[in-house]
Amino acid sequence: MKTNTIYVCQACGYQSAKWLGRCPDCDKWNSMVEETDAVSSQDISLLHAVEVDEDIRVSTGINEFDRLLGGGAVAGSVILIGGDPGIGKSTLLLQACDRIASAKTKVLYISGEESVKQTKLRANRLGAVSKELYILNETNVEIIKSHIEKLKPNVVVIDSIQVLFTTSLTASPGSVSQVRQCAGILSALAKNNETALFLIGHVTKEGALAGPRVLEHLVDAVLYFEGDRFTPFRILRAIKNRFGSTNEIAVFQMASNGLSAVDNPSLLLLAERPKHTSGSVVVVTIEGTRPLLVEIQALTSPVAFGYPSRRSTGIDSNKLSLLIAVLEKRLGFNLSSFDVFTNIVGGLKISEPAVDLGLIVAIASSFKEKIVNPDCVVIGEVGLGAEVRRVNQIEARVNEAEKLGFKQCVLPKANLKDLTLNSSKSKMELCGVSSIEEALKIVFESLPTGRQGGK
Ligand code: TYD
Ligand code: MG
Repeated sequence: MKTNTIYVCQACGYQSAKWLGRCPDCDKWNSMVEETDAVSSQDISLLHAVEVDEDIRVSTGINEFDRLLGGGAVAGSVILIGGDPGIGKSTLLLQACDRIASAKTKVLYISGEESVKQTKLRANRLGAVSKELYILNETNVEIIKSHIEKLKPNVVVIDSIQVLFTTSLTASPGSVSQVRQCAGILSALAKNNETALFLIGHVTKEGALAGPRVLEHLVDAVLYFEGDRFTPFRILRAIKNRFGSTNEIAVFQMASNGLSAVDNPSLLLLAERPKHTSGSVVVVTIEGTRPLLVEIQALTSPVAFGYPSRRSTGIDSNKLSLLIAVLEKRLGFNLSSFDVFTNIVGGLKISEPAVDLGLIVAIASSFKEKIVNPDCVVIGEVGLGAEVRRVNQIEARVNEAEKLGFKQCVLPKANLKDLTLNSSKSKMELCGVSSIEEALKIVFESLPTGRQGGK
């Protein structure tokens, strides 16, 4: 065993072989701190001579969770579950542990945050009654390590990594060096013992506590909870997965007896959609392999004083500014004296460009006070010249919209030829457009009830 000196940013976990005054990843000054890394020397092998077994996977007993992990948790892998406090991390993992234990797999749930009694109360609430589920309330990594070595569980959950500490460091629990060191010790142990290790990490606002981001490069899979704590939806997204696909999502609903998977998330996300209000548009986004219908809402209102404000929830604010600029410059909308707010209903975060056109239509709808046909979905990427560009996986998107009873779909003209939909079978009206202007014309004029008023 050799030791190696590295420098680690205390704000974001960036590693460098030499000291740097400013972290190149998060741009923070004076944040690099020296750490020593144990380096074990390995023999060189011929790749073709390396023997591998199939991944041994442990089912979590929750189908959506398994699907997200790529078919269950791989033995010997480390999975980081991040999210805001109170979003449901402990709940989901305790439910999973109970199901894993019910399948006669040995599980150890280590709670450093809640006492054994508190965890028991939560388990009662969740109906978690498995007789094979072990629980430990401990924060000292060395003690945890000795327990794991003795019990030899197949699955270990650490709730949370930020409260653990190792006596080999003097830094306080929750600091970047403690969090990384503890995670390092436990993941080495997991790899040796073929244990699937789940690490829970709270997302923290700026402060002394290290967020789960500092562990992302150290683990095999990273799952983050998205969504608003005040809505019942909980979206778990795979940001990184060495054993499955990324950007896949699982949708759960929080109820009094814990989290349950949502079979038809589109239906639930659209449940409270106002059908006769301007500024509301339904778009189809693809999350991983799954098409999802979501409502985008926009509100434009005259600026009271000062600069107009542009606020977006669930959509990158740069994208919003860009699309507003396109509306102003190419379509002559005078938004400079209007505040613009947009929101993705349900707390989902969307980064794919296929929702551009829907976002533009929502803003235009609010600005013109014109209702968008409630039976219409809008799909398309928008270019700087106000042209509508082709998107990927159009068939999956259109099929999902049709399944949910939408009658009309505004989509990029260039996508029409990709659709092999049997038109006699499909009841959906497909309106191919090549510019924003054409799209606006269709969505505002196809309203069946003739309720349209506005400017
Ligand atoms: P929790 O799993 O403790 O969040 P985290 O571990 O991410 O901090 O979830 C806490 C919230 O979930 C809390 O506000 C109460 C709510 N909750 C339910 O609504 N139903 C339940 O069955 C449980 C256990 C929690
Ligand atoms: Mg918790």
